[in-house]
Amino acid sequence: MDKMIINGGRRLVGEVEISGAKNAALPILAAGLLARGWSTLHNVPALGDIASIKQLLTSLGVQVESQGSTVRLNAEGIGKGEAPYDLVRKMRASILVLGPLLARLQRAKVSLPGGCAIGARPINLHLAGLERLGAHIDLRHGYVEATAPRLKGADIYFDGITVTGTENLMMAATLAEGRTVLRNAAREPEVVALAEVLQAMGACIDGAGTSVMTIDGVAELQATEATIIPDRIEAGTFMVAAALTGGDIRVKRCNPEHLAAVIDKLRQAGATVEAGASEVRVSRAGDILPVDIQTQVYPGFPTDMQAQFMVLMSVARGQSIISETIFENRFIHVSELQRMGADIKVTGETAVVRGVATLSGAPVMASDLRASASLILAGLVAEGTTEVNRVYHLDRGYAAIERKMSLLGAEIQRVAV
Ligand code: EPU
Repeated sequence: MDKMIINGGRRLVGEVEISGAKNAALPILAAGLLARGWSTLHNVPALGDIASIKQLLTSLGVQVESQGSTVRLNAEGIGKGEAPYDLVRKMRASILVLGPLLARLQRAKVSLPGGCAIGARPINLHLAGLERLGAHIDLRHGYVEATAPRLKGADIYFDGITVTGTENLMMAATLAEGRTVLRNAAREPEVVALAEVLQAMGACIDGAGTSVMTIDGVAELQATEATIIPDRIEAGTFMVAAALTGGDIRVKRCNPEHLAAVIDKLRQAGATVEAGASEVRVSRAGDILPVDIQTQVYPGFPTDMQAQFMVLMSVARGQSIISETIFENRFIHVSELQRMGADIKVTGETAVVRGVATLSGAPVMASDLRASASLILAGLVAEGTTEVNRVYHLDRGYAAIERKMSLLGAEIQRVAV
């Protein structure tokens, strides 16, 4: 198991190129199950989670070929719609194969993903939606077993906003009979990216990016070619790194529109942010100012940036309040940051962060993907050496982070243990 050793105190300066978005690539790869023939996807990031979904698709009978960041896949020969526990447990997003399998094969058996470090994360909204499309669902021996002779369009209201739930239902509805309306749908850029790919495959989808989506089912979908959108969370993480280290980074190949909330908060925190068409330059010369944030669904401040922003606030000049409203247990990085000298108090969904003059390097443990990123960031500004253990969490979602950070001047090294 690798660990990351960081010697803090370096300003990060230069340019960094952002990879394709993990959370767009995952549903788009799963959507490959819906069509026959070879689809080609470009700008697919080299990540642990992408390897996991490729493995899952292969086990379902999809032919998957990869060359660099291009992935070709063909679901012509899928037969058994069964996603086993051993593959699903590695990554909750595996549940994204449920909707497409059901639509294409009229049946699916997918292991229940279970909880994870950031919360219980149930899939009740996915299942309730599929039932509304006419699926019969049984939960047996830790598996979701779903059958439906042919899914039938329905008017579905989501009790809560769910990103992968919206994606699952949208994919299932593309091959359903008649019209499906998804109300209270997620509006995340990754949902829109999936809708665009499905449209290119021949699906009829209207309203992606709004909270009401209409999908008119078609008899079949065709293979297509598409490019994955840039990862807004990777971009945001580097933007925070610039502000945190008093550096100056041009974050290239990103979509600043997807980062509006993060940009606004960084400016309030004292950073200078210049946004172009496909890049953002972030620098900071003065103090880091305290800013309150509350995580929300898009276009609100993303929960996937909460941990990183907390590190910035932990060295701000004053007190800030961070509220996590999406996941019930997403403050697990706090205890590790406290070990590095941060002054943070958590009550329920609220963290009160009192900025300290400096963090001090320490051995710390990564517990989930974004928490790991926050510990790397903390290491960049801490005095002395920080050792981040269990970096496989980081590798699930950040492509070559130590190489990208080294090129910006960070002293960071991966060590095999
Ligand atoms: N929820 C339910 N029932 C459901 C589905 C969700 O109660 O059936 C709850 C969840 O427990 C949570 C809230 O609704 O409290 C929102 O969860 P959502 O379903 O939107 O999350 P997700 O689809 O499982 C995606 C991203 C996450 C990101 C969240 C929120 C992917 C593959 N994952 O998860 O990304 O944090 O949306 O934006 O798209 C990450 O990349 O590190 C990551 C965790």
